[in-house]
Amino acid sequence: MKILVTGGTGYIGSHTCVELLNNGYEVVIVDNFSNSKPDVLDKIKEITSKDVIFYEGDVCDKELMNKIFDEQKIDAVIHFAGYKAVGESVKLPLMYYRNNLDSTITLCEVMSSHNVKKLVFSSSATVYGSPKNLPIKEDFPLSTTNPYGTTKLMIEGILKDLYISDNEWSIAVLRYFNPIGAHESGLIGENPNDIPNNLMPYIVKVATGELECLSVFGNDYDTKDGTGVRDYIHVVDLSKGHLKAIEKVNSSNGIDYYNLGTGNGYSVLEIVENFSKVNGVKVNYKITDRRPGDIAECYADPSYAKEKLDWAAEKGIEEMCRDAYRFVMRNK
Ligand code: NAD
Ligand code: UD1
Repeated sequence: MKILVTGGTGYIGSHTCVELLNNGYEVVIVDNFSNSKPDVLDKIKEITSKDVIFYEGDVCDKELMNKIFDEQKIDAVIHFAGYKAVGESVKLPLMYYRNNLDSTITLCEVMSSHNVKKLVFSSSATVYGSPKNLPIKEDFPLSTTNPYGTTKLMIEGILKDLYISDNEWSIAVLRYFNPIGAHESGLIGENPNDIPNNLMPYIVKVATGELECLSVFGNDYDTKDGTGVRDYIHVVDLSKGHLKAIEKVNSSNGIDYYNLGTGNGYSVLEIVENFSKVNGVKVNYKITDRRPGDIAECYADPSYAKEKLDWAAEKGIEEMCRDAYRFVMRNK
């Protein structure tokens, strides 16, 4: 079975390609390297000893997408390609709407005209806005607080309308909680060039001495220790969820939504403590003001994914911290 992976050289995409290849799937990647590097392709090969077919280019480029579908007999698509930085989306909303919506619409048009109607889409827990209750279930009310989140919610709406218009589609919408960690080989992972916005990449850079001190955004939330609580999930567990989603879209029609999280919430200070302990390094931190737009607490009820996809996260917080650090140390 041949899977097209858009954004396949990115953080979650590259790990998912490894899982696909290790499980006997053929993989075609399209990526424009707007947020990844070509050497990831070599790393995927080094880990799996298997080749991928690669097209460099933009998913918004309809001519290119038609060429890919003409040349390859694609059975299903996993659509990761998109921009994902919340702060940047507030500054450059049109760029976010253009890329995230255009890539999805172009992809679906080309899939439809080639009669490929099995799709797994990367959504985000950000579509739950500020949840009133915890843990978060898939049928909770949806809302967003920034343009990035709104692109995800709009795409969920587009995919729903697409299915209503044509019941031959089979679509799995995966709402990720907070992916962290890296492949255990230390060959692929996440190491942003800029100053990171997200917690784990920031902690890693403080641990390596690239950054001086972590700012803990607020310790007066109504949580176990006053700092923000999130559902961190190992990127390899998350990637395995995509294989289960591919099996699902291959075996039934419809559109469905799945939380991919662990169900466990960790506070910022718990993450710092675990990271320091597991890796034997000190992480300097100071308490600062809350970050505007942050919520106190967010964690999944992952039972629907367990029931319908037979998927559950397996890796604990120690592995997440160890693997995140190993990747950056190995690639410094
Ligand atoms: P990433 O930036 O590492 O990967 C995205 C990849 O898509 C990159 O390699 C980039 O070069 C490519 N890309 C972007 N626009 C493209 C386009 N128009 N054409 C071709 N390639 C394009 O991001 P990631 O963390 O791997 O996230 C993957 C998906 O999961 C994204 O849609 C993101 O919004 C979603 N998501 C990520 C997180 C997270 O915390 N990482 C959380 C929830 C949802
Ligand atoms: C952020 C995005 C969310 C996106 C997710 C994954 C915001 C407001 N939300 O979620 O839309 O889906 O990333 O990409 O940006 N923290 C610190 N210091 C730091 C960084 C973070 O204390 O330097 C805290 C935050 O306040 C939060 C926790 O760490 O409590 C996790 O933050 P982060 O990794 O940015 O993820 P989210 O805010 O959950």
